[in-house]
Amino acid sequence: MIPIKVLFVCLGNICRSPMAEGLFADLVSKSDLNNSFEIDSAGTSGHHQGELADRRMRETALQHGIRLITRARQFKKTDFQDFDYIAAMDRSVLRDIESLRRTASTGKAKVFLMRDYDPNGESHDVPDPYYGGSEGFEEVFQILERSSRNFLDSLRANHGI
Ligand code: 4NP
Repeated sequence: MIPIKVLFVCLGNICRSPMAEGLFADLVSKSDLNNSFEIDSAGTSGHHQGELADRRMRETALQHGIRLITRARQFKKTDFQDFDYIAAMDRSVLRDIESLRRTASTGKAKVFLMRDYDPNGESHDVPDPYYGGSEGFEEVFQILERSSRNFLDSLRANHGI
């Protein structure tokens, strides 16, 4: 089977999107679907390129049994061709991706807001935790856990896996 390619995108690629990637990869692995997916994350800003995820995000993830080991990279136009699904963490990131898309050649990717999949979706955005306290990182984890489960369930239904 050709793997389904999923990219999670935030601003810095050191807090929200690495957490989304780690959570989604963990769910995929626990569902015995590793061969069905390729998973990555990126940031619209290149500011933190090459860095590990923020220590506070890594600690929150570890408290939930997930080890974040990825290094930040910047989103690029070829991602529209290389991925089937691009999940933006908030509306500002979505706008930036959509404006890049207007200058890119064609790409198959379906671009959407991650929180479209949050069953408790009281907001459109996964809040940026970078300048806040530790409770913000736990909130990001909880939002992304709910949303990732629902997103994976939806993909499994749509792709018959
Ligand atoms: P992220 O969080 O987009 O979830 O990775 C941020 C990380 C860094 C900055 C902003 C948000 N920053 O301004 O450096």
